[in-house]
Amino acid sequence: MNAPARKTMIAGNWKLNKTIREAIELVTLLKRRLCDVENTDVVVCPPYTAISDVGEILAESEIKLGGQDLYWEDKGAFTGEISGAMLKEAGANFVIVGHSERRQFFNETNETVNKKIKAALKNSLTPIVCIGETLEEREGGRTFQVIGAQFKGAFGNFSREEMKKVILAYEPVWAIGTGKVATPQQAQEVHAFIRKELWNAFGEAVASGLRILYGGSVKPGNISDLIKEVDIDGALVGGASLEADQFSELVKQAMVIAPLRGLE
Ligand code: 13P
Repeated sequence: MNAPARKTMIAGNWKLNKTIREAIELVTLLKRRLCDVENTDVVVCPPYTAISDVGEILAESEIKLGGQDLYWEDKGAFTGEISGAMLKEAGANFVIVGHSERRQFFNETNETVNKKIKAALKNSLTPIVCIGETLEEREGGRTFQVIGAQFKGAFGNFSREEMKKVILAYEPVWAIGTGKVATPQQAQEVHAFIRKELWNAFGEAVASGLRILYGGSVKPGNISDLIKEVDIDGALVGGASLEADQFSELVKQAMVIAPLRGLE
């Protein structure tokens, strides 16, 4: 394997799980178990109510904090929304944008995703931008068309400088929460396609430096084979991020693979 040295990232998306008390419990365990992380970036994205407490516990640890979404305006009459500045002040450095659950259940469109990514960058948050096809789209042979359209919709008006600050996550909708993981080859094929799109739109430096995570039923039993693929730079993890044993095991396996990925 001849992988370029893009640092592996394991990010946990807790979704609508964990009360404040449960979040504190989980992150306290993670901090203890992952005190010697190297060559791997670790991020947890708790629900908003727990984000400040989790941030306080993680201060000065190697584990970083992210939000699960944000609104594009800084403030105003937008009941229920949260801004980039609010996330930043609560301790976040990352934010997930365009998760398929938001596209599916909350009317997220490529246009709103685009505005949210801009808002994240404006507030010095690194956006983790999710794209991925549904089962119907895959079975209809439209995977690349859908991914290409999501890519253009999200980043159509981006400069190279802006693009460099983005992390992408390929999350096939049919693999999320279903236990049906994409095979490393299936995932690699789409990751390579995304990197080619990046190259065409933003040039080689952006394409080869930008991290593309895989998400969808990632577990300790399948992470290694996924991140051995040349274009898979880590994982965005749902279910297995809710349990300290599983999540720390994922990170440990990423650390074992890191030297193979050219990270010493
Ligand atoms: P699962 O790992 O539970 O399939 O969820 C993946 C996901 O949606 C991460 O954002």
